[in-house]
Amino acid sequence: MADNPGITFDRIPHPAPVDAAARTALIASPGFGTVFSDHMISIDWSEEKGWHNATLGPREPITLDPAAAVLHYAQEIFEGLKAYKQADGQISLFRPDANASRFNASARRLAMPELPEDIFVDSVRQLVLADRDWMPEVEGGSLYLRPFMFASETFLGVRPAKQYKYLVIASPVGNYFKSGAPAVSIWVSRDYTRAAPGGTGAAKCGGNYAASLVPQAEAIERGHDQVVFLDAAEHKWIEELGGMNLFFVFDDGRMITPPLTGSILPGITRNSLLTLAREQGLSVAEEPYSIDQWREDAGSGKLVETFACGTAAVVTPVGRVASHDGEFVIGSGGPGQLTARLKEQLVGIQRGTEEDRHGWITKLG
Ligand code: PLP
Ligand code: COI
Repeated sequence: MADNPGITFDRIPHPAPVDAAARTALIASPGFGTVFSDHMISIDWSEEKGWHNATLGPREPITLDPAAAVLHYAQEIFEGLKAYKQADGQISLFRPDANASRFNASARRLAMPELPEDIFVDSVRQLVLADRDWMPEVEGGSLYLRPFMFASETFLGVRPAKQYKYLVIASPVGNYFKSGAPAVSIWVSRDYTRAAPGGTGAAKCGGNYAASLVPQAEAIERGHDQVVFLDAAEHKWIEELGGMNLFFVFDDGRMITPPLTGSILPGITRNSLLTLAREQGLSVAEEPYSIDQWREDAGSGKLVETFACGTAAVVTPVGRVASHDGEFVIGSGGPGQLTARLKEQLVGIQRGTEEDRHGWITKLG
């Protein structure tokens, strides 16, 4: 396999970027994942050439043969990270090296080639710098980056493809949850699981999200914001939401999150919050927690807060939980104190109003 030290990006000028007035209107209230910037990154991989053909060019449709392997066997992975406008006006990335490393872990699980971490980070940096004017000014706004890779080889045999495309697109975003409610409500899926032992739950591959759509739709139909998945073997242990990890806070100040058993995505927000909580001397554990215990502890008042966390959702309090066995409320049903404090600290680091003691911030200028 060829290796490609020091890849350089060819720059293809955009023939007709969105004009400033239209862009300002588009980013005024962007929501999540509906508005896209002018440019994209594209890099190809083949067995013969390794990574090659790196470009920063106009964002445009891609042409695929109908027999492209990804369309049949779903050999696809992605990442999600954000660029933030810092208090000093500079643009920053939050832990892009962690996304690069997780991208390669996903690549290994899906039998895809790894992308050198410095190329991943550089690709994101180049796109953000090209499209920095797309950064929304709204409170909580950021430029969401979506690096992804898929099997582009024209071949219907079931084996790892010999050609891939890596792309990065950017989307100005505001809040992930439309409702604007102070806390979200979640539905415990009884009939569906997200990931099984030995499966792809720890990888960020599109197929995991395809499998979550029916249970997520069930949650929405029943009036909830998100679905929470239990483990596939015993249907007992809380795993995570369709796109967020979960934390539980007790009345004695203890905080737990489900352990990374292989069927849970190792969230970078999860990891950052564990670090922040530990350094404040909080008692934190990665520990299995069952749905029955959750219900009982919420009822007795032993459990005082639950929150979901992820790049898109940041830190979001969970107020209400419902399942076929009934419904329970957590704490006051609104945001809890520790949830609010951890969110403030994390967002402060991301936005440059709190000291970055861990080297999590990469300033792009
Ligand atoms: N769990 C799932 C299934 C996700 O899709 C995400 C989002 O990326 C997360 C957890 C949170 O991960 P992170 O904090 O790295 O965004
Ligand atoms: C993220 O938080 O970046 C995610 O990928 C979650 C969801 C939008 C898929």
